[in-house]
Amino acid sequence: MTNIRQEWRTPFAQLAPQRERFWSWAGGVSVRTKILGIVLALTAILGLGVTWQVRLVMSRVFVAELEQRGLSVVSDLAGRVIDPILLNDTFAVHELLIDTVVNHPDALYAFVVAPSGDVIAHTFGDSGFPLALLGVQPTAYDTADEAHRHIQHTTYRSEQGMVHDFSAPIFEGRSGVVRLGLTETRLTGIINAMTGQMLLTTLVVALAGIAAATFLTWLLTRPILALVETTHLVGQGDLKARAPHWADDEIGALADAFNQMAVNLETSRQAIAEKDIARTQLLEQLITAQEEERKRIARELHDGVGQALTSLIVGMKVAGQLESTAEMRGKSEEMRLFATETLDQVRLLSRQLRPSVLDDLGLTAALERYADEFGRLHSHISVDLHLNLPERLPPLVETTLYRIVQEAMTNAARHSNGDTVSVLLSRHDDRVRAIVEDNGNGFDVEGARRAGRSVGLYGMTERAELVGGYLEVESSGDGTAVYVEVPA
Ligand SMILES: Nc1ncnc2c1ncn2[C@@H]1O[C@H](COP(=O)(O)OP(=O)(O)OP(=O)(O)O)[C@@H](O)[C@H]1O
Ligand SMILES: [Mg+2]
Repeated sequence: MTNIRQEWRTPFAQLAPQRERFWSWAGGVSVRTKILGIVLALTAILGLGVTWQVRLVMSRVFVAELEQRGLSVVSDLAGRVIDPILLNDTFAVHELLIDTVVNHPDALYAFVVAPSGDVIAHTFGDSGFPLALLGVQPTAYDTADEAHRHIQHTTYRSEQGMVHDFSAPIFEGRSGVVRLGLTETRLTGIINAMTGQMLLTTLVVALAGIAAATFLTWLLTRPILALVETTHLVGQGDLKARAPHWADDEIGALADAFNQMAVNLETSRQAIAEKDIARTQLLEQLITAQEEERKRIARELHDGVGQALTSLIVGMKVAGQLESTAEMRGKSEEMRLFATETLDQVRLLSRQLRPSVLDDLGLTAALERYADEFGRLHSHISVDLHLNLPERLPPLVETTLYRIVQEAMTNAARHSNGDTVSVLLSRHDDRVRAIVEDNGNGFDVEGARRAGRSVGLYGMTERAELVGGYLEVESSGDGTAVYVEVPA
């Protein structure tokens, strides 16, 4: 079974390399060459095929007609020569033969052979009768044979081309036979002239085809070449390059789709560039803010804690030199109060650096404490907290939400002119949502983002996106709301 199959497949399998060669050749030539080749091949096949067919049909029709004519002329002649032959009027027979040959454009010769085998009259004139002609057809008639009473027809090739020789019995063969030769020369000439005409027409059609195909390929390839050029430009980074829209056809649609793609590419490239600039600004501002913060802490350590410790050392030294116990007790009480104050300062400093409550007790507790401090700092603003977080979140998510809420609340206090800030925090399945709202004047969010001078808004968005969430700011004359949603 497998053998049979393999044998069956072998001839096709053997053709595979030729097929591949053909396709690699066909793929290598330009569209113009392909279309021109197809048009030329079709025109040639059609023109030559039709010409050949017409030639074949015409020559068959012409030959049939020639034979028909030959038969009728020779039978007519056989009837008309009976009388002169019976009267022995050779001259009249000769005249009849000449008359027939002259009146028939295809007639080559005519002659009469007596039953004895002698040629009585012929149309060869002075050049003499070619005896070989007698051998072409039987000239002696067996009058008893029924078949021999009919007209005989044969063809032979001569210097004048194909000759049709007709032989008709005179007086049923008793007075000999009359022979007539018709040549195909004239008809062949007509067929050849017609063939020439048709080939000329084919040539004209082929030339018109080449012109039409050239125009068509120009129409087709012009927009494609323009598109290729544009693709190169875009590939080299010129995102402003656009493909021309030549027509509303498939190629036009392709150009439109390409242009749309280039527009999208340009837009996203712009967005990336803008983001890059904003990120660089943010980084610079972050570094500056960090340095400022360090300076402040250094100053507070030096001026506050450092001074306090120095005072304590001095106080202890003074206390060591005191002699009265009452004075010593008074001094140590003073130093204790001083140390307590210093400790408060250190605690505040540490909380400002990073609220340890965020790590120890979680986001809800940290926000509650922050809201307390915020309320004390901005006594004209009332803070409304709705925190609904049953469980703790990953540290990064807690820090992110804490900083975002902190920034949104600070913005509300600094810019909104409102008197209420509400904070909503809730969990929905595996996502945490926070909303910070104020009832202030609102602002132009897009304008503030575009201005890009401050990092607050940008930093909030970046923080949310960094943990896989998103942040939206909505603002109107009635206030501002910051929505943030992050995966828990
Ligand atoms: N809640 C708000 N109500 C009214 N205007 C606001 C509010 N939040 C922000 N804005 C406006 O948007 C601008 C940008 O805010 P953003 O937080 O980015 O910067 P900032 O607060 O001015 O400076 P920082 O970088 O210190 O945060 C603000 O200057 C302010 O004009
Ligand atoms: Mg701000």
